[in-house]
Amino acid sequence: MSEPVKLDAPVTPGGVIGILGGGQLGRMLAMAAARLGLRSSVYCSGYDAPAFQVTQEYITASYGDPAMLKDFADACDVVTFEFENIPVASLDYLSELRPVHPGPRALEMLQDRLTEKNFVRSLGLGTAPFFPVETPEDARRAFAELKGGAGILKTRRLGYDGKGQAKVTSADEAAWACEAFAGAPAILEGFVEFAYEASVVAARGVDGSFAAYDPAENVHENHILRRSIVPSSLSPAQVKNAQDIAQKIADALDYVGVLGVELFVQKDGTLLVNEIAPRVHNSGHWTLEACACSQFEQHIRAVAGWPLGDPSRHSDAVMENIIGAEVNAWESLAKGGALHLYGKQDAAPGRKMGHITRLKPRTK
Ligand SMILES: Nc1ncnc2c1ncn2[C@@H]1O[C@H](COP(=O)(O)OP(=O)(O)O)[C@@H](O)[C@H]1O
Ligand SMILES: [Mg+2]
Repeated sequence: MSEPVKLDAPVTPGGVIGILGGGQLGRMLAMAAARLGLRSSVYCSGYDAPAFQVTQEYITASYGDPAMLKDFADACDVVTFEFENIPVASLDYLSELRPVHPGPRALEMLQDRLTEKNFVRSLGLGTAPFFPVETPEDARRAFAELKGGAGILKTRRLGYDGKGQAKVTSADEAAWACEAFAGAPAILEGFVEFAYEASVVAARGVDGSFAAYDPAENVHENHILRRSIVPSSLSPAQVKNAQDIAQKIADALDYVGVLGVELFVQKDGTLLVNEIAPRVHNSGHWTLEACACSQFEQHIRAVAGWPLGDPSRHSDAVMENIIGAEVNAWESLAKGGALHLYGKQDAAPGRKMGHITRLKPRTK
């Protein structure tokens, strides 16, 4: 394998940002790129992807198709991605042709919950207790190790919005859940009785510069993000702690781009890292209206080698996801707040169809 291509000069206006993945995150990245005078090319395995509607170039092909990946790379100045289930081998291949940010090693580390959690621990950061599980016997043994009343079995790969997860309250349940995963490698995590959930969205530039947004307080329903609130209930010291955690992670991965770090805030005030998303994050959508530079623009700036933007927040914000059939109320939703609809046709249950952000003058 040859050396990865490095970005030795910023992508100039008119240049092309290649985005792997065509969902709403890719859509909002492409729109942010356009505002900066950059073009985008979106590569997605699906047809009629939300991001296709707002980009100059789009390609429907498998993420493992070398010929199509090469055509895509040839037409881009830099390549990034909006979702973490891109095969690492494809990212490695692309990185021999064009600079790829974040890089394949960061993706490799974070797309598997076991390597991700071992990495977080290696930085001296806290996580829920976890044990690797491959067989029902492993699941029973791991459940016994938890010593608490409950755990969550999670597949190591490909989970999102609570998919590939099962809450278990006995060794039998843990074993059954493992069987239901049909041999997919998993981890059993201790169930954390957190006070609330929070997240920090931050960016690291090509030059190692770092910028973090104010952490958001997050409310999940059915394992799907319902709302993000800023400011959060975190104290100033906890805010700094959260932002330092994100910086430690980003530095250790030599990360370039935006990442989202999901946190459990424990009742004693300590923070545990739940998961790290190597991409823009749903809990950062409020930055579109409440900050001079949104997380989407920030990501484009970072991957294009531009100076990072100002992450400071001028307003308080509550971002609410619009899920499934809730989108049918678009007309009344449009009456209050900044409405974003993602251009998806099928309002399937649990599908993120849009979001709405309501602002108030900044209080703290
Ligand atoms: N160990 C845990 N203890 C308590 N709640 C959890 C735990 N793991 C996950 N959850 C809940 O499930 C949500 C989704 O889990 P997460 O691991 O973030 O997966 P994903 O976001 O990829 O679906 C979390 O935001 C949290 O609300
Ligand atoms: Mg999560």
